[in-house]
Amino acid sequence: MQPPETDFGDDIAVPAAVTMLAAGRPLTPIWRNVLGGLTYRIGTDYFVKFAPRGSDLPLRNEAGRLAWAASYTPVPEVVSSGADDTGEWLVTKAINGWSAVDKRWDKATAVTAIATGLKELHNGVPVKECPFDWSVERRLEKVDRDKIGNPPAIDRLVVCHGDPCAPNTLLGPDGRWVAHVDMAALGVADRWADLAVASYSLSWNYGDGWEELFFATYGIAPDPERIAYYRLLWDLG
Ligand SMILES: Nc1ncnc2c1ncn2[C@@H]1O[C@H](COP(=O)(O)OP(=O)(O)OP(=O)(O)O)[C@@H](O)[C@H]1O
Ligand SMILES: [Mg+2]
Repeated sequence: MQPPETDFGDDIAVPAAVTMLAAGRPLTPIWRNVLGGLTYRIGTDYFVKFAPRGSDLPLRNEAGRLAWAASYTPVPEVVSSGADDTGEWLVTKAINGWSAVDKRWDKATAVTAIATGLKELHNGVPVKECPFDWSVERRLEKVDRDKIGNPPAIDRLVVCHGDPCAPNTLLGPDGRWVAHVDMAALGVADRWADLAVASYSLSWNYGDGWEELFFATYGIAPDPERIAYYRLLWDLG
């Protein structure tokens, strides 16, 4: 497997816990998120995510959600998770794929895979079995209600990804959707909570003009009211 695009390098010190988990295997820096969380590939077969203490990254939420979702949809298999005074970590088995923002993909291929993956997730994971909640009511507890009105009526409850931004979709060697990653917020919510943000993220990663392909591939007509509401909720959160 060819390495994915990396977005940080040797200038960031490898956390001691990550060095320990690697146990002498080579570490490839893969991703640094906006809150300071780091992802490395360990050798060829594993990934480790590390959230420094105080970064407020709910990695502990992710292991349980990945383990639950794995029965219904392709996600990384959890190998181990833990924490110490320096932070939290999560080790998963590597999926043979590359993020939708990897430079190897043309934009149409990436956007098609993102929409296909979201549809598979929404159709394939059973709402009634899901113990996790990403409801608008719960999310509204954490935002200033004066800045956002009452939520639109629920269109359809599904198991949402919860962080459906482009980098969290993986494409396989054939350029098709292969799995989702980054599921710390997975839970039951209106499908528009995901659709609004997934389509929002296209402009951040690919520029304007990709929403039509996204909604056509998913197979739904854009709903301007729900899209605007859930984008504002995302921005406020
Ligand atoms: N098991 C895995 N197999 C393949 N690739 C993986 C795996 N785990 C993580 N990755 C890669 O590492 C990247 C970062 O992982 P992830 O999205 O879970 O981290 P994050 O820091 O929570 O991201 P965000 O910036 O969205 O908060 C992913 O976009 C993906 O490219
Ligand atoms: Mg991510």
